[in-house]
Amino acid sequence: MKNTVATFAEMKRSGQKISMLTCYDYSTARLIDEAGVNAILVGDSLGNVVLGYPDTLAVTVDDMIHHGAAVVRGTKNALVVIDMPFMSYQINAEEALRNAGRIIQTTHANAVKLEGGLAVAEAIRKIVSAGIPVMGHVGMTPQSVMQYGGFKVQGKTAEAAQKIIEDALAVEAAGAFAVVLECVPADLAREITARLTIPTIGIGAGVSCDGQVLVYQDMVGLYGDYAPKFVRRFADAGSVMRQAFAEYDAAVKAGTFPNDAESFGVANTKQNSELKRLY
Ligand code: KIV
Repeated sequence: MKNTVATFAEMKRSGQKISMLTCYDYSTARLIDEAGVNAILVGDSLGNVVLGYPDTLAVTVDDMIHHGAAVVRGTKNALVVIDMPFMSYQINAEEALRNAGRIIQTTHANAVKLEGGLAVAEAIRKIVSAGIPVMGHVGMTPQSVMQYGGFKVQGKTAEAAQKIIEDALAVEAAGAFAVVLECVPADLAREITARLTIPTIGIGAGVSCDGQVLVYQDMVGLYGDYAPKFVRRFADAGSVMRQAFAEYDAAVKAGTFPNDAESFGVANTKQNSELKRLY
């Protein structure tokens, strides 16, 4: 059954945990969706894990649309949320709505996400009033990496914690249906989760959040040795793929790939016509 923002609200109400993973392409979206994960985030972490940038700042609306549409095509049941990239919503609420509308109209995703609290409340209100669901994102917001001087846990002092609580409340008041809490102390995330009526989705925010999100490459070992404290490696797909690539390389160079069964014979029309996909 298709997950919607109403599903999120009901899961918070009934105390069921919400699972979410990032994704950026059709084939992986199909796997994540088939696994029963509730929601997919086409994150602007695209910039790091797919495009190879050092941060998310160079990602554009066009990049998000290109990858977001592919993810939507690969998804049946998961709620698909697409990140609004740096400078696509900060200038003013009108521009934020224009970009959110374009993302939703061209990809058919179910919601957008944007970073920030009080500072973006007006943009959230404007987008929500046009009927587009918005997920907020507070705590460590990667688009502000230059202000932090690196990717650092936020909310460690009482004053900083209070500011994050106010940001989360502002996002809820502006009409967001959920909020990501990134890299904040677990007791702060517990307090915010208890105070909000919308679900909190944690990443590096402890187990008390209503749901969890991870960058999928991190949790299956596809992004080198990158291993922040909050990531659990559920698989070592990187090693499996590297091994397969090395075996392919050896087979091509040894002349053992392709064999006869992997080649077309002129008279073998049955085998040829059984192909489901041909480049
Ligand atoms: O871009 C992203 O992947 C994100 C998650 C880390 C929450 O915003």
